[in-house]
Amino acid sequence: MASCFSSMSILVALVVLFLVGNSDAQLSTDFYCKTCPQLFPTVRAVVEAAISKEARMGASLLRLHFHDCFINGCDASNLLDDTPYLKGEKTAAPNLNSARGFEVIDQIKSAVEQVCPGVVSCADILAIAAKDSVNILRGPEWEVKLGRRDALTASFAAANSSNGIPPATSSLSSLISNFQSKGLSARDLVALYGAHTIGQARCANYRAHIYKDSNIDASFARANQATCPKNSGNGDNNLAPLDPQTPTTFDNIYFKSLLTKKSILHSDQELYNGGSTDLLVQTYSANSGAFNSDFINGMIKMGNIKPLTGSQGQIRTNCRRIN
Ligand code: HEM
Ligand SMILES: *[C@@H]1O[C@H](CO)[C@@H](O)[C@H](O)[C@H]1NC(C)=O
Repeated sequence: MASCFSSMSILVALVVLFLVGNSDAQLSTDFYCKTCPQLFPTVRAVVEAAISKEARMGASLLRLHFHDCFINGCDASNLLDDTPYLKGEKTAAPNLNSARGFEVIDQIKSAVEQVCPGVVSCADILAIAAKDSVNILRGPEWEVKLGRRDALTASFAAANSSNGIPPATSSLSSLISNFQSKGLSARDLVALYGAHTIGQARCANYRAHIYKDSNIDASFARANQATCPKNSGNGDNNLAPLDPQTPTTFDNIYFKSLLTKKSILHSDQELYNGGSTDLLVQTYSANSGAFNSDFINGMIKMGNIKPLTGSQGQIRTNCRRIN
């Protein structure tokens, strides 16, 4: 990168500002431009290595940023390990046996600490790693906004509540109101849900959908029963792709599988089940450009949920514990 304020980045920033409209002025794309000019290539190299080892890791890193932002804002609270004094978020229902990629975040953090010690927050690392993951898996590229700081605490209770990260049993109306409570629209919901174009789900989360639901293609349900036994406790951690066609490519094909009722999660199929979001699913399935631009817009809005800034919180040295 030649200079901190290239005309290209100013142009992109203006376009993003125009698209987002209500963008939070506290975060900025050039936040570390002077204090950590090597930040982006440093993060990217570690994410690339992790994804070339295991493509699914891109999905896991993207989900970590979502799980961070939805619980008390994007403050890396979900990265804190439990201590005798703090019950963190890692054992809460949406994360237990499910959230992964913490070791990769550790690797990114140590690489970043080598080039600019004590400068870059874990919350910003999550946002950059999520963006890189999408792009490396052949999705769009965008400029992330930065300047978040790290929380001094975490909340098991908030992370274990259905008002936090919605469960896979959610109806469309509860998904819409959950997102609304975080300042995200129904359009943001459908676009961000497109993140399920990559990654895997566990049998425990889709068992009821493939054995009991009617809003699912019958032969697709039957095919998935082979790896997800009917009785709970059996094969709970067996995996199925969220996008059955292209599970390691970030594309709009996920939306096409919703149209044919070949979605592994109940809540995913709620987006296309005769309700108010059907039309958007159709639009995204037909138009990857529309999906990509709404997804970017949604990621920037999600990344702006209640960040700690200025002198709030801290810059953690180790993302797993407070300094
Ligand atoms: C809106 C409601 C959402 C619900 C109900 C939901 C639910 C789920 C569930 C149940 C899983 C499977 C977890 C498991 O079985 O271990 C999953 C995986 C995943 N979710 Fe979501 N999710 C939602 C939104 C999002 C958003 C907004 C993003 C990111 C922007 C996201 C990204 C992912 C990714 C990438 C995976 C795969 C992770 C991996 O393979 O490690 N999800 N989600
Ligand atoms: C966390 O949530 C799960 C699922 O809703 C519930 O079964 C469990 O009892 C909760 N755990 C605690 C400690 O509140």
